[in-house]
Amino acid sequence: DTQKTLEGKTVLITAGPTYEAIDPVRFIGNHSSGKMGFSLAEEASKRGAKVILISGPSAEKAIHKNIELHRVISAKEMLAKVFEFYDSADIGIASAAVADYAPKEVAEEKIKKNDENLTIELVKNPDILKTMGEKKTHQFLVGFALETQNEEENAKGKLEKKNLDMIVLNSLRDEGAGFKNDTNKIKIFTKTEKKEFNLKSKEEVAKDILDCIEGQLLK
Ligand code: PMT
Repeated sequence: DTQKTLEGKTVLITAGPTYEAIDPVRFIGNHSSGKMGFSLAEEASKRGAKVILISGPSAEKAIHKNIELHRVISAKEMLAKVFEFYDSADIGIASAAVADYAPKEVAEEKIKKNDENLTIELVKNPDILKTMGEKKTHQFLVGFALETQNEEENAKGKLEKKNLDMIVLNSLRDEGAGFKNDTNKIKIFTKTEKKEFNLKSKEEVAKDILDCIEGQLLK
């Protein structure tokens, strides 16, 4: 049986991709399945936490009764939902792969094909985690970094810029890491420490991440 090490804590988790509509049938999205975030939600709830899970479009299901699942589509919706619950959270974990840009205008009707090329203007989406960092009062804030190059440098940069307490790096250069797979390979950074882990199932990775968070909270 899992020890109730997070009893009394509320954990807010973002998961999955966001979809940014182009027209009624098309969107800009990414390959996130939501598995990493849902695994974190299951493990945190097994440890006794109340979990608020805010997920973009994902086929994953929340099983544990302590998980309150809110499904959203776009980054703007995810931002709004996060800030409905942010004040009540003790720990925030941003595992969602949020689209950084969205179409400036959403066409009301399906865009018709013609002989010309099509240009879609994109505007910047809000950075949900950065906003969480700016509004941080008592929360322990954990971000992810999904990188393809200069991984450690970029991850540490995000730890600093987004005012985080911890960042979990996964690199698409590592086989079996990142999107869609049932496995992940991570490194965890705090301002002073670095830990490296082997390739594991996302369930096991979630345990490692929560162990690290608990270790920091006890300090
Ligand atoms: O869902 P899976 O298929 O299981 O895959 C898991 C995962 C690869 C999506 C996950 O492990 C992961 O790395 N999530 C973060 C992906 C990402 O968008 O990383 P980033 O380096 O672009 O963003 C840095 C951090 O800022 C992330 O915590 C992200 O949630 C957050 N962010 C980014 C942009 C934005 N507009 N808002 C945000 O909150």
